Amino acid sequence: MSRLRIFDDTDPSAPLSATEDQALIAEWLKPIGVRFEQWQAAAPVQPGASPDEVMAAYRADIDKLVAENGFNSVDVVSIAPDNPNKDAARARFLDEHYHKEDEVRFFVAGSGLFSLHVDGKVYEVRCEAGDLIGVPDGTTHWFDMGPEPSFIAIRFFTHPDGWVGHFTGTDIARRFPRYEAGQAG
Ligand SMILES: [Fe+2]
Repeated sequence: MSRLRIFDDTDPSAPLSATEDQALIAEWLKPIGVRFEQWQAAAPVQPGASPDEVMAAYRADIDKLVAENGFNSVDVVSIAPDNPNKDAARARFLDEHYHKEDEVRFFVAGSGLFSLHVDGKVYEVRCEAGDLIGVPDGTTHWFDMGPEPSFIAIRFFTHPDGWVGHFTGTDIARRFPRYEAGQAG
């Protein structure tokens, strides 16, 4: 299930609050400018579906979001636990960073853990299939796909290098919960 836990950024031991209610997750994320919503597929997406098939299943939502936000490119990224590069893929955005454009991801299948560091708090968002998350530009965050990564996501970009991460050099991400095996799914 989708989940939000909010921590004081000095205390990873226990969250201040937590919810698995998608409407509440959206409500609690809204004040920090984070978009969280659910999309329904127009047609079933089968494992092994091509990027075109994946995008066709969500065409109306994709077109609406692109029109509203002026994204210039949309792609589909997919990773499975048997990927030989999974450790490198996981490591890439595990430390605190930000981007110069919004990080917008829709989870078609599988799951991943976004942690957003804003105003002395850490907002840990477990995104599952059907969830769209939009992290505003400049928001410090990290992303963990777990040791056995498994997801398909649609990504939205304004610039070709929009995915470039600017790392803050802090160790905060290492002090907060990681996305562990068995948590996913
Ligand atoms: Fe990021």
